[in-house]
Amino acid sequence: MVAQKISRRNFLQGAGMGAAALFGTTFHPFSRGPSLFDRLTSRSLSVQTDDFIPDAEVSITADEKTVQILSGTPTLVWSYEGQLLSGSGVTVQNLPGIYLGPILRVQRGTKVRIYFHNNLAEDSVIHPHGLHVPEDCDGQPMQAIGPGETKIYNFQVIDRAGPYWFHPHPMGRTAEQVMFGMAGLFYVTDADEQAAVPGAAQGQFDLPVIIQDRTFDSNNQFVYNPNQLWGFLGEKILVNGTLNAAFSLEPHAYRLRLLNGSNARTYKLAWSNNMPMKVIGTDGGLLPAVQTRPYVMLMPGERVDLWANFSSLARQQVILKSLAFTPGGMGGGCRRCGMGSVGGSDTQSSAGGNGIDGMGGGGGGGGGGMGPANGTAFNVLTINVSRKTSDHPALGPLQSLEIVYGPGNVPNYYSPRPFTLEMSMMVWTINHRVYDPTEIADDEMVHLDDIEAWEWINNSTIPHPMHIHNVQFQVVKRTPPADSTTYNTANQGFLDTGWKDTVLVWPGEKVRVAMKFSPYTGMYMYHCHILEHEDMTMMRNYMIMDSMRP
Ligand code: C2O
Ligand code: CU
Ligand code: CU
Repeated sequence: MVAQKISRRNFLQGAGMGAAALFGTTFHPFSRGPSLFDRLTSRSLSVQTDDFIPDAEVSITADEKTVQILSGTPTLVWSYEGQLLSGSGVTVQNLPGIYLGPILRVQRGTKVRIYFHNNLAEDSVIHPHGLHVPEDCDGQPMQAIGPGETKIYNFQVIDRAGPYWFHPHPMGRTAEQVMFGMAGLFYVTDADEQAAVPGAAQGQFDLPVIIQDRTFDSNNQFVYNPNQLWGFLGEKILVNGTLNAAFSLEPHAYRLRLLNGSNARTYKLAWSNNMPMKVIGTDGGLLPAVQTRPYVMLMPGERVDLWANFSSLARQQVILKSLAFTPGGMGGGCRRCGMGSVGGSDTQSSAGGNGIDGMGGGGGGGGGGMGPANGTAFNVLTINVSRKTSDHPALGPLQSLEIVYGPGNVPNYYSPRPFTLEMSMMVWTINHRVYDPTEIADDEMVHLDDIEAWEWINNSTIPHPMHIHNVQFQVVKRTPPADSTTYNTANQGFLDTGWKDTVLVWPGEKVRVAMKFSPYTGMYMYHCHILEHEDMTMMRNYMIMDSMRP
């Protein structure tokens, strides 16, 4: 496959459509927009602001601060602080005392302007994960700004109600910046959602649950010690930035919106009292009907919207647990580099075990080493249900999916674009390629408004959460691995109905997704959402082209 550099022409097509969609004006290809060179070198690329009239203006500032996570010495973190500057359609809720960024709640249709101020000592950029935005608002590594600089985002929130989020995306530094605390929620709401889930309108019954793992040193500071194969696996589980998190809730139905904000750890989530997991939504919003699962698998970047009815549990305690599972393929994998047995059942309790030491990732043993293996059981969140009772909101009719993709309406359904996931020569690759910010291959060009099927083919020994920018897709087919031993420890927890932007791909598995590339043209990205894999190389550009077809 011949990879080619982005031509100025392709870039201008992309930028042009973005600008036209953004400003609602006619695009003149050569009168507007920076050149590719400008774009790749500009320190502070901001869009023109003349004809975009925002409904609301928000500032988000990245800065260092200290928070009290453990008792004793506070922990130095990197954090987002939000502020509503003017307008309506957006609320900004900061979380005092917690490293996580603000919760933006945005009415669908709102035109937002966001001023991102970078007060860190290094480059950064914000990526709005899951949203359709013009290319220059996608927050790609080449759009990062330096210390003291500001980037302006102008976009209309066109996506349906859903639990979107935002996080840094600078070159090679995403994983560490997220680990140090930077991530926030971008909840889009609309009238359909409020009709379907009355609790959503009432706030107090709609609770975010951001699950992350962290390691602390003896002075209570974060330790970042990623492993080259698995990424960063912390020793302790935090929910909403809190260790040993506990919620005191009423005996009501609640909507718990879970985000796996971890760099690399996968969770197999279940209730301690064995009540089923009732799922009403995924990455891109509400499902057409409630789905019931014994447990739910959640990989980094994925979200799941749970409906949890505690009304019969007054004065009881229920724990959201992560159950043990076997994440790695046994015996498969890269024999050249001897990584086949990693993640097998005999390494469950000790991630520093076979095959991981010597990877140069800093894993191994006790005392500040890597946390427990992926697949280790944890308690995630304790829920103490009070005795008080009152009415709780009912669950209304859920929204339809609007479009259901299948063989009949996805042109290349039976011959999807293949994307192989492999580690070769100690480097994570997609279709044997690594990230190059200036490169787009022929098979990474798609056409505006086309519906396509892509297929992730996991030829590696560990699961990968595959994420595509600027689309919401549907999972249309899974082809399980030939050896289902490890698969069977997880597959009852897959949720393939609904809109997704990140999907779990098991070792040996093929996962086919279908999506429409619309309404923006330009260069976007796809990558593994294990942040160390992304930073290391398992990320690529793709281009949405607005070109005439024969
Ligand atoms: Cu949440 Cu490109 O990522
Ligand atoms: Cu994203
Ligand atoms: Cu990966």
